[in-house]
Amino acid sequence: MTESPGDRILVTGALGQIGTELVSSLRQRHGKDNILATDIRSPGPESNFPDGPFSNLSVLDGAKMERVILEEGIGTVFHLAAILSATGEKNPELCQRVNVGGTVSVLEAARDFDLKVFAPSSIAVFGPDSPNIAPQEGPLNPTTMYGKTKVTGEILGLNYWKQYGVDVRGLRFPGLISWKAPAGGGTTDYAVDIFRAAVDHGHYDCFVSEDTRLPMMYMEDAIRATESIMQADPGSLGDSRVGYNIKGISFTAGELADKIAERIPGFTCDFIPDFRQKVADSWPDDVDDEAARNEWGWEANYDLGRMVDEMISNIS
Ligand SMILES: NC(=O)c1ccc[n+]([C@@H]2O[C@H](COP(=O)([O-])OP(=O)(O)OC[C@H]3O[C@@H](n4cnc5c(N)ncnc54)[C@H](O)[C@@H]3O)[C@@H](O)[C@H]2O)c1
Repeated sequence: MTESPGDRILVTGALGQIGTELVSSLRQRHGKDNILATDIRSPGPESNFPDGPFSNLSVLDGAKMERVILEEGIGTVFHLAAILSATGEKNPELCQRVNVGGTVSVLEAARDFDLKVFAPSSIAVFGPDSPNIAPQEGPLNPTTMYGKTKVTGEILGLNYWKQYGVDVRGLRFPGLISWKAPAGGGTTDYAVDIFRAAVDHGHYDCFVSEDTRLPMMYMEDAIRATESIMQADPGSLGDSRVGYNIKGISFTAGELADKIAERIPGFTCDFIPDFRQKVADSWPDDVDDEAARNEWGWEANYDLGRMVDEMISNIS
């Protein structure tokens, strides 16, 4: 391991749902020029992506990644590039290649240059044998390719920490709800899309059943969790360091539609499950986040009502 080339931060998959907001928050905290946003795509002309340094970088190109890390003086990587669950079910080979291959590129670079890494996991690591409230330590037997790649990501992260001392940290994000960037092909996208449809058309056709209950979180809480775990004292983090459960809000699709209808009179929602219902059914209703609370003080700020108010007022 050689010393980190510098103190700047590189974000992979930065143009996605999380990256758009994380880059903005990191630039406010560390200064615009200290954050290098990268993605395989480029921001479009109409994009509201935050202004600042940007490069095209595929996480599958490990040699280019190492070159960029050296040239740009990088010390920390937030690794967000991935293929999400719904897209991954349609193209499992790509999902495996990007999610596992991309994570290996980042971890190898981190091992070479002593980088600190944030590599998010997901509630998709759980499968049908998980209790309804998924424990931190429990069976990880996902049925989706996406979930399997996330379990592999956690195993790799822990191995790089234990074998090579690479400071890898991660969270098992629930479905994330935000209004600044569109959701990126996940099974929980209905909880984002419903707001735009409600404001624009007063109606939404929801692709999971009314009684589908999943763990969710408002993006502001997710960004705060990401920054908190990266700032946490390393000595306080145990073996869950690569995939802490973090609890946000648990609600059914019907409860979400009802809350929106209370605020947008006349809003209607039909529930027409498609292939994503099977994925949703394989995931738990909620998670137990005691380890995150005890080890680095995690606590969500947003409940269902507050999240719905924020989403409607920002989208309107
Ligand atoms: N959004 C959620 O609800 C959620 C929930 C759980 C976990 N996560 C995890 O958080 C991370 C970020 O998720 P997101 O919602 O921002 O995803 P997203 O799909 O919105 O964004 C992913 C980005 O990765 C980019 N990308 C794809 N292939 C690439 C490659 N080969 N090289 C570089 N970039 C590439 C895409 O262009 C896209 O901009 C992922 O690891 C995801 O698994 C997200």
